[in-house]
Amino acid sequence: MNNAKAFAAAGATSPLALTTIPRRAPEENDVQIEILFCGVCHSDLHQVRDEWNDVMPTVYPCVPGHEIVGRVTAVGSAVTGFKAGDLAAVGCMVDSDRTCPECQAGQEQFCANFTLTYNFPDTHLGGVTYGGYSDSIVVDQRFVLHVPNNLDLAGVAPLLCAGITTYSPMRHWGVSEGKKVGVVGLGGLGHMGVKFAHALGAHVVVFTTSPNKKEDALRLGADEVVLSKDAAEMEKHTSSFDFILDAVSADHDINAYMNLLRRDGNLTLVGAPQKPLSVAAFALIMGRRSLSGSPIGGIPETQAMLNFCGQHNLTADVVLLSINTSH
Ligand SMILES: NC(=O)c1ccc[n+]([C@@H]2O[C@H](COP(=O)([O-])OP(=O)(O)OC[C@H]3O[C@@H](n4cnc5c(N)ncnc54)[C@H](OP(=O)(O)O)[C@@H]3O)[C@@H](O)[C@H]2O)c1
Ligand SMILES: [Zn+2]
Ligand SMILES: [Zn+2]
Repeated sequence: MNNAKAFAAAGATSPLALTTIPRRAPEENDVQIEILFCGVCHSDLHQVRDEWNDVMPTVYPCVPGHEIVGRVTAVGSAVTGFKAGDLAAVGCMVDSDRTCPECQAGQEQFCANFTLTYNFPDTHLGGVTYGGYSDSIVVDQRFVLHVPNNLDLAGVAPLLCAGITTYSPMRHWGVSEGKKVGVVGLGGLGHMGVKFAHALGAHVVVFTTSPNKKEDALRLGADEVVLSKDAAEMEKHTSSFDFILDAVSADHDINAYMNLLRRDGNLTLVGAPQKPLSVAAFALIMGRRSLSGSPIGGIPETQAMLNFCGQHNLTADVVLLSINTSH
């Protein structure tokens, strides 16, 4: 067993503080990674503040972080795909049962027995798993991704959650040239949604509550930007969207967006607000519209997403924060 430096929250209201956590010595299928960058996903905030207590109560100390990019420092004897010195990435899952139909189909995000990267029972060391706000991590090779070498590494980190969470439903619902696609909420997930929808050739409309994000939205690839508080602007888009991705982290009026879907249009929720959203029956009934959700993505699709980003030279826009682990 090795010690790693990490930033942990001791409770729902305490700030993160430097601590030491155990990491297992690499076993035969393990890849040991020196973490170079880790994204800050809003899920980290929800989890640290115990806002998902109903479904995933937080165990403290909690070390969040599931948008991890680093360099391989050691591999177990049975590892074939990675060697010391390679770039490597880890997302929201570090294991699954590998035998259920979902795992066999490469859809590990639906496995009833998956292990999330943090705040999940650790089958190796006991206790819970610790995430990427740390200087190292040890992960089974099946859950380690390859990073295209043309991409900026800091901008790659958020692809491991914000990227796959927006890419996966867009592929599932057929976002492509000629489709009108909405993205609600221009945060970490939303801005990746805009980049992917644009790269897939769709006509992209961003809905935001923040007037100062208009220029950013256009620069990221939006064709139009709508301030969602402007009822007249919203009205202009009634019944016109093939697909809307809702990436809002807080309570909001979802019916305002359901009404913008055309016949058989779909709104996929990826944002995970603490409180239930209320849906008007007629917003669904009229136009045979559908509302669904989508969690992250499986390992094969996460690799496909990273390869897509490599081909399109596409990464997340990031603000670099320094985490000082030297003391
Ligand atoms: N489904 C999954 O697998 C999955 C994966 C990762 C994250 N998530 C969830 O997705 C959500 C977004 O994560 P993120 O990292 O992108 O968060 P983020 O960067 O904080 O962005 C959230 C955006 O939501 C909008 N927003 C915030 N408060 C709002 C309010 N009161 N009313 C309306 N809009 C509001 C804002 O956009 P504007 O300023 O443009 O309005 C904000 O930028 C979180 O709930 C997170 O837990 C889900
Ligand atoms: Zn996340
Ligand atoms: Zn499984």
